[in-house]
Amino acid sequence: MKRSILITGGAGFIGSHVVRRLVVNYPQCQITNLDLLTYAGNLENLKDIEHLDNYYFVKGDIGDERLLSRLFKEYDIDGVVHLAAESHVDRSISDPLSFIKANVLGTVTLLNACLNHWRGSTESLFYHISTDEVYGSIVAPELFTETTAYDPQSPYSASKASSDHFVRAYRNTYNLPVIISNCSNNYGPCQFPEKLIPLCINNIRHRKPLPIYGQGENIRDWLYVEDHARAIDLIFHKGKEGEIYNIGGDNQWKNIDLVRLLCDIVDNQLGTTNSQELIEFVKDRPGHDARYAIDASKIKSELDWKPSVSLEQGLAKTVEWYLSNEEWLKHVTSGQYQEYYQELYSKR
Ligand code: NAD
Ligand code: DAU
Repeated sequence: MKRSILITGGAGFIGSHVVRRLVVNYPQCQITNLDLLTYAGNLENLKDIEHLDNYYFVKGDIGDERLLSRLFKEYDIDGVVHLAAESHVDRSISDPLSFIKANVLGTVTLLNACLNHWRGSTESLFYHISTDEVYGSIVAPELFTETTAYDPQSPYSASKASSDHFVRAYRNTYNLPVIISNCSNNYGPCQFPEKLIPLCINNIRHRKPLPIYGQGENIRDWLYVEDHARAIDLIFHKGKEGEIYNIGGDNQWKNIDLVRLLCDIVDNQLGTTNSQELIEFVKDRPGHDARYAIDASKIKSELDWKPSVSLEQGLAKTVEWYLSNEEWLKHVTSGQYQEYYQELYSKR
């Protein structure tokens, strides 16, 4: 079991679920959360655990070599769970360079910090969280396995693929102990409302149009975020060094069918009707991948993991969370919230 773990991007959507799980389940481990608090990072996600003795938050950039060097020394980090990234495909289309900076340069700077601090120790581990988008699009009924060739199609997936290659190269060249996992689409509480599911919940709530790219025929494989956090915990503690694990929900849905189901669930909880009438077909995303679908049999057989929540259950919990956390939604969409925290932490 690792004693001092650095989690990057722990104030974001998936990262906050991972931080909470590790802080609560491993009170003997020191968990340091390094996050730049971009528009996607929000400390409100971790309010319930911020008082715990084994949790530390540091505001900073994974690309800041000096800060990393100080943190690795001060906290004697011996494990890294790396989630920090720019994560939204549409933003990568309008601003690819910021994705190269955070996802490629940031990851390599972090890898260098591990090399410098660990100096060949085999007791340490760099665990890189990646995405199924590195494999590109796949035709039914085929599934992505851990040996599927990389074929990234968007600036986001190209930057994640590049970071995966650097992680492997650091193992091959410098013997850095690493694990990589590639996961499908997550959904659940605390996801920034630019992604399909929280965007639609928020728009239904405010009776705004639900923009469906193209004909809505694209397929994604959906996984409830807490099932992903549990997989990350298992892989970090029980996974085999040097291995790759695919994680997926066995839940392949066409976007249009998913959004229709979501409308019905929100209608059911709000007592409204006909939210499906808000659906609007809009111009397609450039280079839009047609289908993602994960074969998760390796993590299931080797680590005894499987998704615990069906899509219907997970969506119901997610809708309930967003409808009862309107303040959170207001904060993250106002922009003022981020400025507030930027100011707060620059004073520390
Ligand atoms: P997110 O956008 O919600 O959170 C990213 C976090 O990283 C934010 O808190 C942000 O402040 C922080 N961050 C960004 N740049 C940083 C930097 N330079 N230094 C320090 N912190 C920085 O993302 P997410 O959806 O939670 O995804 C987390 C990770 O999981 C990403 O690496 C992503 O590629 C991967 N992933 C996401 C999904 C998904 O469906 N969301 C699926 C598979 C893999
Ligand atoms: O597959 C894993 C990836 O899933 C992660 O690596 C990414 O970080 C995460 O953002 C997600 O990428 P997607 O592009 O699949 O997610 P998004 O929620 O943006 O879109 C889901 C699908 O819905 C996709 O086919 C595009 C479509 N879409 C999206 C939005 C925002 C719409 O039709 N309308 C929309 O307004």
